[in-house]
Formats: sequence, structure tokens, C-alpha cells
Amino acid sequence: MNEKILKLMERGSKILGSKYALLGGAMTWISESNLTSALSNAGLFGVLASGSMDGSLLENEIIKTKSKTDKNFGVNIIVMNPKLHDLIDVCGQKKVSHIILAGGLPGKDIIDKIHSYGIQVIAFAPALAIAKRLFKQGIDALIIEGNEAGGHVGPLSTIILIQDILLNLKEYPIFVAGGILRGEIVASLLQLGAAGCQLGTVFACCKESIAHENFKKVYFKASGRNAVLPVQLDKKFNIAPVRALENIGTEEFIEKQREVLIKFHNGDVTMDNGKLSLEHFWAGSLRRAVQEGDVDKGSLMSGQIVELIKNERSIEEIKNTILREASDFLDRMYN
Ligand SMILES: Cc1cc2nc3c(=O)[nH]c(=O)nc-3n(C[C@H](O)[C@H](O)[C@H](O)COP(=O)(O)O)c2cc1C
Repeated sequence: MNEKILKLMERGSKILGSKYALLGGAMTWISESNLTSALSNAGLFGVLASGSMDGSLLENEIIKTKSKTDKNFGVNIIVMNPKLHDLIDVCGQKKVSHIILAGGLPGKDIIDKIHSYGIQVIAFAPALAIAKRLFKQGIDALIIEGNEAGGHVGPLSTIILIQDILLNLKEYPIFVAGGILRGEIVASLLQLGAAGCQLGTVFACCKESIAHENFKKVYFKASGRNAVLPVQLDKKFNIAPVRALENIGTEEFIEKQREVLIKFHNGDVTMDNGKLSLEHFWAGSLRRAVQEGDVDKGSLMSGQIVELIKNERSIEEIKNTILREASDFLDRMYN
């Protein structure tokens, strides 16, 4: 393998404590102990998703993951989760190395609390000013995730975030996510100053993923244009867009949105509670697809990169392909 790729990954690998600066992004219901430990054992950085867990479930999952790997892994915590503090305390007690905060912007108090346990903090930023603020508040690294990613997304594409944030904050460690799979892209991003990359959808469909076989089969047949964002019925009721493969569940989400909007306009529900009920809808329907294999009504969260994912591969095969493509690309560029 081209040593240059390891050299380019050095900064990110050091922060993560992994051989390669490649994160397997957290995916609710999917990123459990098997997938997370398998990613970390392969030299990548696995991230447990706590989106569907309370403190005791997370504690169990951390214990299980630690029994399967002695490598570093992270825990993804959703900032707007009412149990945020409990989940951080569990990570502290169980001596997790990294917390990845998503689904909202953390205050300095949260960052300080995580640091007080000796845990590193990684957060997401959708704009340059927010990225600067988060680094000033003390985060250890940032992930920028473009709109082509699977799951909850911001408004801007990866290529815009690269130019807006990565190229303006070269002194800080920034990982890039959203629509990344080929090694040539990984190598190019590292050359542009990225600390590393985060991939999601491809690992939802890998051999080690516990997702139902019906779920994986749909992804292998899907094209990128099937991974869509739901229609937003009311601009004032700003719902977090979720990218997923279109199915009956997508229609049901629109109905659910309509129901919540009527309640909101009648004063029967606050905006925050209305949004929370939509989040519960997504989490519940993702579980139906992942665990029960209900690919008609369940949510099939997916990035546009599904266009390139055509069969079930192991983490080892995915990793080796990326590293080979990255190395060949660097050889072609410099020889
Ligand atoms: C099925 C699915 C579930 C996801 N759930 C979460 C989550 O719980 N927390 C989170 O921070 N990101 C979540 N993501 C985003 C991934 O961690 C990752 O950043 C994203 O998939 C990267 O883009 P890609 O899909 O183009 O590789 C999810 C993505 C998918 C596809």
C-alpha cells in the first residue's frame, strides 16, 4: 500500500486512535456492538448509535462492544435527546474515548462536561461561523456532512461545505462525510486538508451489518435518485429533512406531518413537541425496516451513494478497495 495514504491520514488517525482515519458513521438501530466492533477491529473507527437508547441500554451496548474489541470506538449522542446528560455520564463511567454529538449544537457546558471525563468531543457544523464557534468552545474535531448523505441532513452539499468550511479552517481537524465511497475521493479530500472521512450507507449494507436481508436487497437495487428528501408541508414548521429511499413510508411521513401541523395550528401541540413526535416517527419506522425487514412501510434512510452500492461486501473488502483506489490514485499523481 502507498505509505502516502497513511501519512495523509496521520492527523485524523491520531485523533481517533485508529489505524485509518475512516469513521463508520453512527446509524440508529444499525450501529450496534457487532458493526461498531467489526469496524474498529478492521482499523477503522466504529461509532455506536445511541439514538434509540436510554442510559442502561447504552451501558449494555458499550460493555458488549468492549468485549468484542480492544480498539477505540465512539458513541454518537443526539444533542436534543432529553437524556443527553445521562448518556454522557454512562460514556464517562464506561471510559469511552470519543463522543460524537449530532442532531443539534452543543453548548460549551456540554463540551466541558464531556472533557471532564477525559473524553474527546467531535461535533457537526452546517456553516463556517458555527464551525469556528464550536472550535472556540473547545471541540477536538469536526465532521462536515453534505446533503447527499443518508439520514438527517443539512441544506448544503458536501462540495459546498468543503469550500466553505474545510478550506477555510485548515488548522483544525475536520472529517468529511456525505456521498463518499471511492478511494480517489478519500485521497483527494486528505490532500485538501481533511483529517479523514466518514461513511455511512455503505456500512448499513455490509456483511457485518445486522440490518435485515430485505433491507439490504432494496439498497443493492436502488439508484441514487431514489434517495430523496420528504416534501416539507409548511416552511414555518421547519422539519429536519431525512434522506431515505422512496416507499409507502415516505407517503405516510407526509400524512404524519399533516397531522402534526393541524395539531400545531390548533394549539394542541408546541412546535418542539410536534418536531419530537416526527423524530419518533422516523426512529420507529427505521426500526421496522432494519429489524423486521418491512421495506414498504419502514424507513430506508440512505445516501445518494446507494447508486454505487451493488452487492454485500465485508468491511475488509470495502476498506481494502478504498485503500487500493486511494494508493493507485496517489501513485498515478506522483509518478
Ligand atoms: C440508515 C442511516 C441511519 C443514520 N443514523 C444516524 C444517527 O443516528 N446519528 C448520526 O449522527 N448520523 C446518522 N446517519 C448518518 C451517518 O452516520 C453518516 O454520517 C452518513 O450516512 C454519511 O453519508 P453516506 O451515507 O453518504 O456515506 C445515518 C445514516 C443512515 C444511512
